[in-house]
Amino acid sequence: MTILAGVDIGGTKCAVSVGRTVGHEIQLMGKYSFPTPAAPEIAISQMLTALSELLEQQGISWRDGGGAIVLSAIGISCGGPLDSRTGMILSPPNLPGWDRIDIVTPFQERFGVPTGLQNDANACALAEWKWGAGQGARNLIFLTFGTGMGAGLILDGKLYVGKNDMAGEVGHIRLEQNGPVGYGKSGSFEGFCSGGGIARLARMRAKERLQLGERLSFCASESELEEITTKKVAEAAIAGDLLALSIFETVGRRLGQGLSILIDILNPERIIIGSIYARQQSLLEPYVMEVIDQEALALSRSACTIVPAGLGEQVGDYAGLSVALHSLQGGGGLPS
Ligand code: BGC
Ligand code: NA
Repeated sequence: MTILAGVDIGGTKCAVSVGRTVGHEIQLMGKYSFPTPAAPEIAISQMLTALSELLEQQGISWRDGGGAIVLSAIGISCGGPLDSRTGMILSPPNLPGWDRIDIVTPFQERFGVPTGLQNDANACALAEWKWGAGQGARNLIFLTFGTGMGAGLILDGKLYVGKNDMAGEVGHIRLEQNGPVGYGKSGSFEGFCSGGGIARLARMRAKERLQLGERLSFCASESELEEITTKKVAEAAIAGDLLALSIFETVGRRLGQGLSILIDILNPERIIIGSIYARQQSLLEPYVMEVIDQEALALSRSACTIVPAGLGEQVGDYAGLSVALHSLQGGGGLPS
């Protein structure tokens, strides 16, 4: 049994978790999450306190356990760009103000155990590979499709991070000249396929319709445009609203376009999609499949299955734990 701690830093919330490995499985022992404070120093000190409290509650000690159950490693999962070797977070688009923040040192100093840092998409890819829908695969892609769009790549049985941790920054790929902005670029993959992107696309479409004098089920007037969220659009789509359905059709087709590019480049055996896809699969899947059947090379397409995250909404809870285990295993290889 190995005791692991995970730290997840997201644009909207931060979480700390503790888990133990039992054979090839993982058991989540406890978790605590809170809204991400704007100032990184405050966020870090709250995460350190939360993790100490969580470990104490579970009777887990750190540094010199003296017979008690002892923490083995910590894994931190955060949106990129970041530098996993120096343990620095480098201005992620979804964490404004987090500019060159040394995140690993404070945890190493407080807990005295090996601490790893990974891009959140990479961390989820590791978690799904070890414990979720990616088990047994040697080539897989995990796509976050939440607040942002990022990819984690397991290639030939190893996590692939590229020259400087920038592999899989697929949210920046431009799919169209004009379109919702994401990752600082109009018409990007993140612009169409992320929580913020879907809301912005819906605002653009809703505004046009309202100006034509139409009535909309999910937005009564132009003064309410800013209140449109992905969740509201999804609820309207499920209730049969045609505009909301057409927004999800656009997003599904763009997702299919992005997946086709990845399938053609990497020939993966599995693509696992988190968050919004896992929640709204029925609204998106038909369009995604239609587009990749048309766009991707047939031999590559037929070799690849596309599935929602096996760890479902909990994938983020396991992301940091998988990074902790990955650090203990020397950062490579198939799960043994
Ligand atoms: C970041 C990626 C991250 C993704 C999901 C993107 O905006 O640049 O590194 O994986 O969001 O959080
Ligand atoms: Na990545």
